Amino acid sequence: MSGIGEANPLRDTADRRLPRIAGPSGLVIFGVTGDLSRKKLMPAVYDLANRGLLPPGFSLIGFARREWQDEDFAQEVHDAVKEHARTPFREEVWQQLNQGMRFVQGDFDDDEAFEHLKKTIAELDQAQGTGGNFAFYLSVPPKFFPKVVQQLKKHGLAEKEGSWRRAVIEKPFGHDLESAEELNQVVHEVFPSNEVFRIDHYLGKETVQNILALRFANTLFEPIWNRSYVDHVQITMAEDIGIGGRAGYYDGIGAARDVIQNHLLQLLALTAMEEPASFDADALAAEKVKVLGAVRLPKDLGESTVRAQYAAGWQGGEKAVGYLQEDGIDPSSTTDTYAAIKLAIDNRRWAGVPFYLRTGKRLGRRVTEIAVVFQRAPHSPFDHTATEELGQNALVIRVQPDEGVTLRFGSKVPGTSMEVRDVSMDFAYGESFTESSPEAYERLILDVLLGDSNLFPRVEEVELSWKILDPIEEYWEQNGRPAQYAAGTWGPVEADEMLARDGRSWRRP
Ligand code: BG6
Repeated sequence: MSGIGEANPLRDTADRRLPRIAGPSGLVIFGVTGDLSRKKLMPAVYDLANRGLLPPGFSLIGFARREWQDEDFAQEVHDAVKEHARTPFREEVWQQLNQGMRFVQGDFDDDEAFEHLKKTIAELDQAQGTGGNFAFYLSVPPKFFPKVVQQLKKHGLAEKEGSWRRAVIEKPFGHDLESAEELNQVVHEVFPSNEVFRIDHYLGKETVQNILALRFANTLFEPIWNRSYVDHVQITMAEDIGIGGRAGYYDGIGAARDVIQNHLLQLLALTAMEEPASFDADALAAEKVKVLGAVRLPKDLGESTVRAQYAAGWQGGEKAVGYLQEDGIDPSSTTDTYAAIKLAIDNRRWAGVPFYLRTGKRLGRRVTEIAVVFQRAPHSPFDHTATEELGQNALVIRVQPDEGVTLRFGSKVPGTSMEVRDVSMDFAYGESFTESSPEAYERLILDVLLGDSNLFPRVEEVELSWKILDPIEEYWEQNGRPAQYAAGTWGPVEADEMLARDGRSWRRP
């Protein structure tokens, strides 16, 4: 039988250089009828198969309440792949993947369903040669995590002699420090910590991993990456979409818990941490934990944080309703759809350098970037009028879209006078590399199957991030309603005022 993992013309050059192919294994997805599964997980599994990175006989089991047969599940995966996969559809890859696909119907507290799951896994071990190695992906609301992991334990699915069993957990990991600690305790009672993979999909993005390459594979940047040269850092994750059909998840959670607690604080950690001893999971985690532990909140949270909600406005030429008018949202909701926070890092490298984090839905456009803004030259031999249009030097890492890095600096304007103006030097992924970047979920699912935990936040990182956010959420809860901004704009005036108080302004990405 020619395996999915064997000679495959579509395997890209990067993977030929360093083939990381998963061994015999399978994946069980809980919550397989959800949006994440359809748009990201199933397509990622297919893309991995198509790139030759899955073993022959790879098995995929969907678990959900829906009254489906195996064929219905296969049809669902097929449609999801056709619609959302990154690589072209190839019938032979699909057919082979299809052989290892099964569906298990049931509720999370249904013992029979878990026994059925156990039988299905045993049957696939025989038929597909999965070697008993299975990852359980919990793509379900966090309130179900404890039940599912306890059921896995009760039915003897959480461990198997001579094989590995892993738990993959989607965010949010709780909604504050206390609930995160409870959750972690429940999960660790069943799975050992090295078999628990917490997904923060930002860590699977190429450009996020490139922060480390940029900083630590070059000599150019590290000498100026500190308080002697850096004025401040701005980390922006802007989205143009509203909350769409996710009212049930989003309301009561809000922007800060949804993405600052995880994605943005991870970006901060990678930008600010010291060089790890090696690129292995323990060394990376040690440095991230150190820097997250050094993050300090400003004394006056009223002056240094802003939360806001989008009001009606215009986006892409179309009218957009306000957050409180969205379907399923309580009209008196105080949930933030925008959050801006100023943080300090108490260590020798960063003392006195503010890190400004902001995120929002229904902003001007979709962009995620890290801007390291440098101090002004201490002295300029040019007269004031000649440098009027000069900003500050900045190194901007564009996480998405148009992935790349831009360096902004002053340059002489052509002509007979000595006038200096800002210009940009650009590196664009799309122009420098022929390989297209894998989707974050491709990389992360493959890493789970390989048991490689470099790109997964550790329990300490998750808890430290809640420690940073909890006092802010508490302050917001006790202090009035969120500010407002019109959909399609760059956020509330209060956020501009927050930076203006420090004599700075937000970049317009
Ligand atoms: C998710 C958030 O983690 O990230 C969503 O829950 C957000 O609210 C999404 O839309 C953004 O991801 P990406 O990869 O499109 O930037």
